[in-house]
Amino acid sequence: FIQLLEKQCLNESNQMVKCPSLTVKQFSLEHIQRFVSCVSAALCGQFKTIIPQTIEVLSGSCVTIPCSFDVETRFNSNIDETCRALWKSDVQTVVFDSSNPQSSTIQGELKGNLTRKDCTTTLNNMRPEHSKEYFFRVECNNFRHNFHDQKLHISVTDDPPTPTLTPSTLKVEEGTSVSLKCSAPAPCLSHPPALTWTSSLGHIQESLQENQDRTKVQTSVLTFTASRLYHRLEMSCTAIYNKQDGSSQSVSTSLTADISYPPKNTTVSVRPSGPVPENSRVTLTCSSTANPAVRSYTWYRADGGREVVMGTRNVLDITASEVSSPFFCKAENDLGDERSNTRQIEVLCVGDTTLKIRDN
Ligand SMILES: *[C@@H]1O[C@H](CO)[C@@H](O)[C@H](O)[C@H]1NC(C)=O
Ligand SMILES: *[C@@H]1O[C@H](CO)[C@@H](O)[C@H](O)[C@H]1NC(C)=O
Repeated sequence: FIQLLEKQCLNESNQMVKCPSLTVKQFSLEHIQRFVSCVSAALCGQFKTIIPQTIEVLSGSCVTIPCSFDVETRFNSNIDETCRALWKSDVQTVVFDSSNPQSSTIQGELKGNLTRKDCTTTLNNMRPEHSKEYFFRVECNNFRHNFHDQKLHISVTDDPPTPTLTPSTLKVEEGTSVSLKCSAPAPCLSHPPALTWTSSLGHIQESLQENQDRTKVQTSVLTFTASRLYHRLEMSCTAIYNKQDGSSQSVSTSLTADISYPPKNTTVSVRPSGPVPENSRVTLTCSSTANPAVRSYTWYRADGGREVVMGTRNVLDITASEVSSPFFCKAENDLGDERSNTRQIEVLCVGDTTLKIRDN
């Protein structure tokens, strides 16, 4: 007696779902086995393969085709150890035969177990002339079927696909923790691409992930804290594909970091730079680095206990006697402001040559 039977199975869109629980009483063992094998495979009781629609493959490399299939329930018992997997490009043309993989048009290896309805297959050393549509065929002692309703388009290219960066642009404030992900397709499981970053600013974590269509993708996540030192830095990820024929090809993708930060290194310069005669012209310049750029500059002079505004442009022309008291500038952008050091101009009285500019 079986009271309750719960299994995971694949639904129409190829996601694992929990099947409704079922109460089965006094079923024959054969019924139960049939039910179990049906729900554990894809799409109960129909002729169907689950394969990707397209796969891009690098010329000279291999491709692993994720594949599972199902047959009408009455043929289940025919799927046994006598079965072999074939891949065809049209009804007449067999390009791969798992019973004779070495003399197939495309050599390869059946990776899946057909009695478990797993037809995953690796095809080796793909060439541009192999860019075609393919479908799966199963041949057993008492059963054979072309699954030509589902076709896989294999596209063999001379250049590897460009890795993708997520996010594709990087515009953050200083201090933010950033995770940049680089992803590169890994169609040939024995030769996944190696991913490297130009700037190893932080922690790197690599993994092989699966797309919804069960093809694989190599990913590398670079995690770091945004610093203004990285502003305008080009960050690039390179995927190196080592191919089965021994050669290798690499392809990169990059972005330029835009790190925003409040004004830094705010400094005052004074021209002329030495002690100046009374009433001569002096030019004060305030400079600062900031992203976004400095929105406003303000000049202050310390007048007794108060700070008096002297001007609001980054360059200020004054007469020497106007600023006998200490002064400084302040730079401001959307993220904050910063003061320069306090400076003072020494005014040269007639006959006095000992005075000079002093930094406090
Ligand atoms: C394939 O799967 C069947 C059923 O689970 C198992 O008995 C058999 O040993 C497997 N064959 C291989 C080669 O792993
Ligand atoms: C500050 O600015 C000055 C003048 O532009 C420059 O020489 C100096 O290297 C800067 N210092 C820092 C820490 O950015």
